Order: sequence, then C-alpha cells, then structure tokens
Amino acid sequence: MRILVIGRGGREHAIVWALCKSPKVSKLYCAPGNGGIAALAECVPIQELQFEEISVFAKQQQIDLVMVAPDDPLAAGLVDYLEDRDIVAFGPRANAAIIEGSKVFTKDLLKKYKIPTAAYESFDAYEPALAYLRSQSIPIVLKADGLAAGKGVTVAHSLEEAEEALRDIMVDQIFGDSGAKVVIEEFLQGQEMSLLAFVDGTTVRPMVPSQDHKPVYDNDEGPNTGGMGTYSPLPHIPEAVVLEAIETIVRPTAEAMVKEGRPFKGVLYAGLILTPQGTKTIEFNARFGDPETQVILPLLKTDLLDIFLAVLNGTLAEQPIEWREEAAVCVIVASGGYPGSYAKGLPIAGLDQVKDSLVFHAGTALNDGQIVTNGGRVLGITGLGKDIVEARNKAYADAERISFEGKHYRKDIAMKALR
Ligand code: AMP
Ligand code: GLY
Repeated sequence: MRILVIGRGGREHAIVWALCKSPKVSKLYCAPGNGGIAALAECVPIQELQFEEISVFAKQQQIDLVMVAPDDPLAAGLVDYLEDRDIVAFGPRANAAIIEGSKVFTKDLLKKYKIPTAAYESFDAYEPALAYLRSQSIPIVLKADGLAAGKGVTVAHSLEEAEEALRDIMVDQIFGDSGAKVVIEEFLQGQEMSLLAFVDGTTVRPMVPSQDHKPVYDNDEGPNTGGMGTYSPLPHIPEAVVLEAIETIVRPTAEAMVKEGRPFKGVLYAGLILTPQGTKTIEFNARFGDPETQVILPLLKTDLLDIFLAVLNGTLAEQPIEWREEAAVCVIVASGGYPGSYAKGLPIAGLDQVKDSLVFHAGTALNDGQIVTNGGRVLGITGLGKDIVEARNKAYADAERISFEGKHYRKDIAMKALR
C-alpha cells in the first residue's frame, strides 16, 4: 500500500518508523516531514493545512491511505475533506475531533454523561468569568476553549496570576478565536497519566499507559512545554487503576460520542490525573500524543498498519494487538531557550555515535546533507530495556552523545516510577 503521513514532528517520525516495518507498505510519503523522517519516507513540501494540495498529491500518487497525525488539520476537517474526495484517511472527522478542539464541548459532554472530570464553569464573556474567578479558591485552572498550540492552559497559584491569564485569553485575545470562550476549573492534584486508545467508533482498544513531563525543568519546574519526555509502562501505578480508567472514562466517552452522532474513529487520547478521590479527566486529544508515541509505538508488536485498517473497517474488536513486555523511556533534547524563543539552523553532531536508542527527530531539517536544528523540541531519544532503569540508562547515555549549541534536556524523566 502507498501511504502518506501528515505532520512534521517526533510523533510523525515514530509513526513513519512503525509503518516502515509493515510488509504491506510499498511506499511511504510524509508531508512535510523533517530531517529524520527523510531517511525513511519521501518528504513532500506540502503543509498540514494545505488541504487541496494534499488531496491533489494523494490522487496523483495513488495514495491508499492518508494518516493525519496532528491536531490542527484534524480539527479543521482534513479527514472530511479527503473522504469527500474518495481518499481513505485515518483520523477522526471534524465533528469528533472537536473533543480536542473545544474544551467547552468536552467538559459539557463529560458532565452530561457523568464521566469523572474536574468541576468547572464555562464563560463567553469577560465580566461574569472574572466575577466567578474571584469567588473560587486558589490554585485554579483556566483554559482557552480552542486549540492554542498547547499553551492555552494556565494553572494559577495566585488570584493575580489567574486574572492575568483571563485577561490574556478574553480581553487581549492572545489565542485569537480560541479564547472566545473559557473554561475555569478546579485544580486537581495527583500524578498524570496518558491513556491512548485505538477507537473505531464503538470498539475501544487501549494502548500501554504512559506519562509525559510537561514543565521544562527537573522536578516539574518552569513553564509548560509540548512535553520534555515520556515513559511506558507505569510500574508504580496499579493495573487496576488503569483498567478502571478505561472502563469509567475512555470507553464511556467513546460511547457518548456515538450517542451524540459523532462517532470517533482514530486515536483517542485521555489526559488523566490520579487524585485521592479517583481518576479524573483533564483533557481529551483526538490523536497520538507527542512524545507519548515515541515510547508507545516501540512497544507495539503488532503491525501498526493492520490496526489502522481495522479502525477504518470497523473490525477493531477482532484485531489482535500485542505489546512487548519491556519498558521505553524517551528523553526530549531541546533548543536553548525553548519553550521561549530559540535559534534554528544549528548543526547537530553525534547522531552517528548513538548506540542503543531510537532517535526520533522532532525539530530538525536536512541542510546540504547536514542535520540542523529546526524547532524547540529537536530530538526524542527513546531507550528500550527490560525495565525502566535499563531503558532510562540507554536513553540518557545516547542523549549525552548528541551535541548542538544550547542543547538542554531534563535529567529526571521517569524518576516518578523509581522513587
Ligand atoms: P493541557 O494543555 O490540557 O495538556 O494541560 C496542560 C497541563 O495543565 C496538564 O498536563 C496538567 O499538568 C495541567 N492541568 C490541566 N488541567 C488541570 C487541573 N484541572 N488541575 C491541575 N492541573 C491541570
Ligand atoms: N504530550 C501531550 C500532547 O501530545 O498533547
């Protein structure tokens, strides 16, 4: 089969890497891809939101399946656009991708179906939102309704900080239309867990659980990023907790989407917090996580393309899905300054010195045969081992072998599993 993957990050590199192993794949393209993906797939200079160019390319190249990985084109309806043109596409249609695209939609859905989540109110005007905010206890969480490149959430530890975030979203509109509505919700305390599942509408098949590290510095300090590292499985979280979250949150949410006439087909990602009062939902995403994918797919034994086809055919219930009894740890190596501003185009050395890990490129470009930095998160180094300790040691040993000016990474990825 001829496959086109849409996207340009570490997640897409991991998806392309997994698809490469499928004997059914005869040709792989990625649009636009990056410097690492270029070694496995033919990268085409088409951007994620260029729907017409994507569909013309898919027709010309007789693509059998377009895999849409990122949130923006899913929310904007790329899957609908392609299906309307008889092109097979993997991912939710826009009316289901709204589960990530609108926090107000999702909070209301969870409330309606009594699915555990933080208590909240939503507002479409500044004054009532401000009055409500002032009546609440601190810390408090503010969320811009729409997509905001992962930056729309503020966990405020003072009323001043909360009021500033509200002004940013609703008055100064720093996220544009994404901030036309705001969710103000209760602060939850506990470990976070990412629980992703393949979903074909009715059938939910969970992947191995993983944990991301959003803040930029060790001990979860500093501003939030897209994710500085992940690991899987979570040996310190009892299996019963994971199974309960599947039965009380993930499966009921997929069922709710069917009842709402918005069947979800693709990868459904639940962001959860394990509180003393039980596991609660903090968000849903309509896609693979980044960098969760960089630890999940290396643990998948089954042909990923077979699973995609089962989702598309509605036969996920019968599809075998097997996982390795191993551990994976991914350390993100980032540009100096990230998540603030950073330089691009810096040469990366040491990629040929990597011994034991998989290197997934996130923000790189190929410049006259030289791999250079091209984003905030530059590389994801995934170590695999019999347990977290072994996987972690491999990932860190290889992260040290790579160098570029300003390089930084967290030193405590996966430590929560070991303490
Ligand atoms: P998101 O952009 O939705 O992934 O949220 C970013 C981060 O904000 C999450 O990974 C959590 O660490 C934190 N967060 C979101 N909602 C809450 C909440 N209700 N209580 C505590 N932390 C939260
Ligand atoms: N790792 C967080 C996300 O993909 O949204």
